[in-house]
Amino acid sequence: MPVTIDLHQLRTRALRTLLGHLDASTTDLWPEIGGSAAPDFSDAVRAELERDRVFGSVPVIVAHSSEVAERNDFVTVELPRNKVILVRQRDGGVKALINSCRHRGAELVTEESGKCRLFSCPYHRWSYDPSGALRTVTLDDTFGAFDRTRYGLVEIPVEERHGFIWAIDDPHRSIDVAAWLGPEMDAILASYALGDLVSIDPHTYRRPTNWKVMQDGFLDNYHVKYAHPNTAGRMLHTNAVALEDFGRSFWFLTARKTLDEYIGHDVDWDTAMESHTIESCYLGPNTMLLKHATHFELLTFRPVGADPAQSIMQMRILAPSVSSSGLEPKHWRRRWEKNWGLLIAILHDEDFPILDGLQRAMNNLDAGSMLLGRNEIASHLFRRLVNDLISSPR
Ligand code: FES
Ligand SMILES: [Fe+2]
Repeated sequence: MPVTIDLHQLRTRALRTLLGHLDASTTDLWPEIGGSAAPDFSDAVRAELERDRVFGSVPVIVAHSSEVAERNDFVTVELPRNKVILVRQRDGGVKALINSCRHRGAELVTEESGKCRLFSCPYHRWSYDPSGALRTVTLDDTFGAFDRTRYGLVEIPVEERHGFIWAIDDPHRSIDVAAWLGPEMDAILASYALGDLVSIDPHTYRRPTNWKVMQDGFLDNYHVKYAHPNTAGRMLHTNAVALEDFGRSFWFLTARKTLDEYIGHDVDWDTAMESHTIESCYLGPNTMLLKHATHFELLTFRPVGADPAQSIMQMRILAPSVSSSGLEPKHWRRRWEKNWGLLIAILHDEDFPILDGLQRAMNNLDAGSMLLGRNEIASHLFRRLVNDLISSPR
């Protein structure tokens, strides 16, 4: 049953809480201090559980719909259990096909993206159509007879919802994104109309860092002015979060410093507030969606296989297309290039070195126990979800 969520009410409540926090130098709090253990980020058994019970069991975003807009458009995506080809179908749907030839297992598609009517294997030239059906067996007189319908490419379940393509990295699951998101987050995403936007120049990074360290880094409002004193720290408040917990997902509001002029005033949400705040959605288990005044950013994190010290981070900017922006194409391009440049500078120069060093330090055998503060509420909720998933086989 569709739930209507009063976003105006949600935002007004969070805005008032946030202004109170800024006034009193506080933030939303978790009930108690927590611990943190190095093996959670370095242990191979734990990493295998996460690969299977997190990524092999629940839906994650693998692309924005605009990245495979037209029939036969494809992108390749490296998931923890399988590398897949996402391909737009004749009927307008999308399939996620495991990128392994059913003859002897060669990697079928080596490009990151493209448009293709037939996927042709480089080894012995078997070919598959975009639905994954096996079309050609070369020299089949000598190969021998077999039932070709049983040797199409294997699919993992996908669903398109809220402008994104979601997948579960296990062919034996069935997918229901709305049920996974829950009614509140499903309604919030619906209100954002993300399907009307386009994904501009998505960036993929391989990192020598556990995926949870990466995810934590982007849930963390505590580090802003310390790790980014001359960049983000100049514009954004540190350690001030108003959060709404929906169970497997949560939503929170953080402040730009320009919000200060409203401290002490009894305000309702209005569109002016969009330029003074950032709305963040944590879409469990591995995604952040940030709403800025003019665009959204989507950050996804996932392990490389079951390697505890390797991850893939994908970053997307979602914004109105050239035609709906009303901008000249060259101005549109320049605007988003500039935006990307700023983002990348902060990541490369400031976040990545710290997070990579954290991962290296997890190998110190006698470093002592660690803590997670009450103010680090988003990271507590993230741990709650991942721990729930790995402790309960679904
Ligand atoms: S491995 Fe693909 S055709 Fe032989
Ligand atoms: Fe950061």
